[in-house]
Amino acid sequence: MDRLLINGGVSLEGEIRIAGAKNSALPILAATLLTHETVQICNLPHLYDITTMLELLGCMGVQPIVDEKLNVEVDSSTIQHFSAPYELVKTMRASILVLGPLLTRYGKAEVALPGGCAIGSRPVNLHISALEAMGATIVVEDGYIKASIDGKLKGAHIFMDLVTVTGTENVMMAATLAEGQTVIENAAREPEVVDLANCLVEMGADISGQGTDTIVVNGVDELKGCSYSVMPDRIETGTYLIAAAATRGHIKVKDTRPDILESVLSKLEQVGAEIKVGENWIELDMHGQRPHSVSVRTAPYPAFPTDMQAQFTALNSVADGTGSITETVFENRFMHVHEMNRMGASIKVEGNTVIVEGVDALKGAPVMATDLRASASLIIAGLVSENETSVDRIYHIDRGYECIEEKLQLLGARIRRVPA
Ligand code: EPU
Repeated sequence: MDRLLINGGVSLEGEIRIAGAKNSALPILAATLLTHETVQICNLPHLYDITTMLELLGCMGVQPIVDEKLNVEVDSSTIQHFSAPYELVKTMRASILVLGPLLTRYGKAEVALPGGCAIGSRPVNLHISALEAMGATIVVEDGYIKASIDGKLKGAHIFMDLVTVTGTENVMMAATLAEGQTVIENAAREPEVVDLANCLVEMGADISGQGTDTIVVNGVDELKGCSYSVMPDRIETGTYLIAAAATRGHIKVKDTRPDILESVLSKLEQVGAEIKVGENWIELDMHGQRPHSVSVRTAPYPAFPTDMQAQFTALNSVADGTGSITETVFENRFMHVHEMNRMGASIKVEGNTVIVEGVDALKGAPVMATDLRASASLIIAGLVSENETSVDRIYHIDRGYECIEEKLQLLGARIRRVPA
């Protein structure tokens, strides 16, 4: 298994470009199942999760084509199987996103039930109950969600008990071809949900309210092909900015969107960073100063994202003062804390909060990544450590960060991948 070796102590300096958003590219790829026409998707990030989604389409009989500009064209008219096998679902939970499209377009779908994962139990009960409210018959047997419908799904008024990102996306996709109107209340407002809705609208769907907590979808008879460019990845953007702040650096990230990062940029200002933004770039300058600790509390968008708390934990671990990180979205997203403590951090877990007392510097150690964002936080910890850190199990990082070591090298970091 590959490892990343990091020799810390360098302030990040320079410019990088941000890739397309993983969490909007995945549902958009699933949405290509909603039409028999060709959908061209541009600005797809080069990530392991994207490959897994393309493989999932492939095992249904759909053969995506990658063109010379690395855009992907999907023509789902060759589909033969309507199922997502366990072998793929176990490596990527977002496979659940094919459930809504398959059911609404073909009247049947079988998707392996995702199990728990390193950040919590992560049930999909809300996806299932919403589709049932739209008339689907769903049984869970042999480890699979088996869904079918006689005729078409029917529009329904759905109240989501919890804000769920992929749940909202699944129901929104299913509703595009349902009979009549679907109203999703307590819908997720994440920018990735909006990006998917905008792509569906390009495909001919009738959707309004995306970006608010009430999404209204009027079903149409069919959707058509289109060409759509995936929005920039706000979590990748935030991760590099936090890494620069933690290392007292000065960087500019390009091809991104400051308007969807307000909660994170405001925390970075509290840390002591000078932030400048343009329409599609963000510049962060610590003027060589040590960051101040901040406290964050995760919650659905537009509040502070759960996908960015681990990175702030790494920053707080070397900041001036004591900060707390409270996680309210997932029940078990602190696995990185124990690894950081092995690097000399002073972090205590108290229920769903961690209290981080900043130390002068961390000390490099061999550490193990447990999930995608935890891996990113351990890399940041490595960047602010004296001597060498080795981060193991980095297949997690390759799921969600495109060329992370190359981008960090461009910013001056001493980091390299060591093949197994
Ligand atoms: N939940 C339920 N029942 C459901 C659905 C969700 O109880 O049917 C709970 C979850 O267990 C969790 C909360 O609701 O406690 C919110 O989960 P959500 O459904 O919003 O998460 P998700 O859709 O599975 C997406 C992202 C995650 C991101 C979360 C929260 C994708 C592919 N994944 O997951 O991204 O953390 O929303 O913003 O969009 C990552 O990129 O590293 C990642 C984990």
